[in-house]
Amino acid sequence: MSVNSKSILVTGGAGFIGSHLVDRIVADNPARVTVVDNFFLGSIDNLSSSLGSGIDLEVIRLDAADLSAMQDIVERRQVDTLFDLAMIPLPTSLEYPAWTVQTNVAIVTTVCELIRRGLIERLLHVSSSEAYGSARYIPMDEDHPHDAITPYAASKSAGDRIIESYVQTFGIDATVVRPFNNIGPRQNPGSYAGIVPIVVQRVLSGIPIEIFGDGEQTRDFIFVRDTADMIVAVHDEPQCRGEVLNVATGVETSINTLVQRLLSVMGAEGHEIVHRDPRPGDVRRHLADATKVRKALGRDIPLLTDEALAETVEWYRGVLA
Ligand SMILES: NC(=O)c1ccc[n+]([C@@H]2O[C@H](COP(=O)([O-])OP(=O)(O)OC[C@H]3O[C@@H](n4cnc5c(N)ncnc54)[C@H](O)[C@@H]3O)[C@@H](O)[C@H]2O)c1
Repeated sequence: MSVNSKSILVTGGAGFIGSHLVDRIVADNPARVTVVDNFFLGSIDNLSSSLGSGIDLEVIRLDAADLSAMQDIVERRQVDTLFDLAMIPLPTSLEYPAWTVQTNVAIVTTVCELIRRGLIERLLHVSSSEAYGSARYIPMDEDHPHDAITPYAASKSAGDRIIESYVQTFGIDATVVRPFNNIGPRQNPGSYAGIVPIVVQRVLSGIPIEIFGDGEQTRDFIFVRDTADMIVAVHDEPQCRGEVLNVATGVETSINTLVQRLLSVMGAEGHEIVHRDPRPGDVRRHLADATKVRKALGRDIPLLTDEALAETVEWYRGVLA
């Protein structure tokens, strides 16, 4: 079932991954798209291309946890599929743990209720590799235990469990995707955007780059447009219904290596780097087993290219200048 001719709702659609997902959905000519975002971090600028596409796109400023308001929207817009991406991110959970957990759990519960009540047909929830915690084994498949470290990670893990409970108890049609670390334009530079804006900003200002810990911690980095593409492909692939799937490349890169690649893309090799104390809750290794999604979609997953890094650097140059 493709998103073509469907009515789609995206929570968190003005955010980083959400806005790329909206662009990708719009390219498939849906009947209409609705974005629900409270603009905690998202930006209307992220949606400028989709807003100019001619597709019926309505952007609603709302707390996605508000069940009665969400119910009104999905009824009025006759929503078929809901892509759920809204959440409060990791760094906020270090300052406001209770509020982060309560909000993230409330959003997932609300979208589960919408489908349980028969108001939407399908739910595609975006989880996070953070739910796994540090790798107990490498590569991490979808059965890896949930060793959530931060309150954010715990809230993402809880969200997955809530969906699973609604699948088991009420038979809702839900799919969970677990992206690993995304890189690309539109990631709020003030958020947990991490290393890319830090490198760009520090190179532009001529000050040393700070890396938390020894820099040998690894992540499975994926370009955000590839993630958006895979989320839509997972939605369209009947085999993926009811499944949990990692969305990642299956390639592990250390922070030190990523910084060197970024410096090379910027022509700033040799820029000074300093190491700071490790950040609380920073996982040591993250590498996905992407076999399940690769087999289900019948395609190779693109690796993070220098062209993608260069595009990302250019975007940050624009917003940080
Ligand atoms: N960025 C990554 O590397 C990454 C990795 C794994 C998983 N994820 C997951 O992808 C999804 C999107 O993350 P992102 O990186 O695009 O973050 P983001 O912060 O850019 O996007 C989240 C959006 O949700 C909105 N939002 C927050 N609280 C809301 C609420 N109560 N109601 C409505 N909207 C609300 C924000 O304003 C923002 O636009 C999340 O579910 C996240 O857990 C992200």
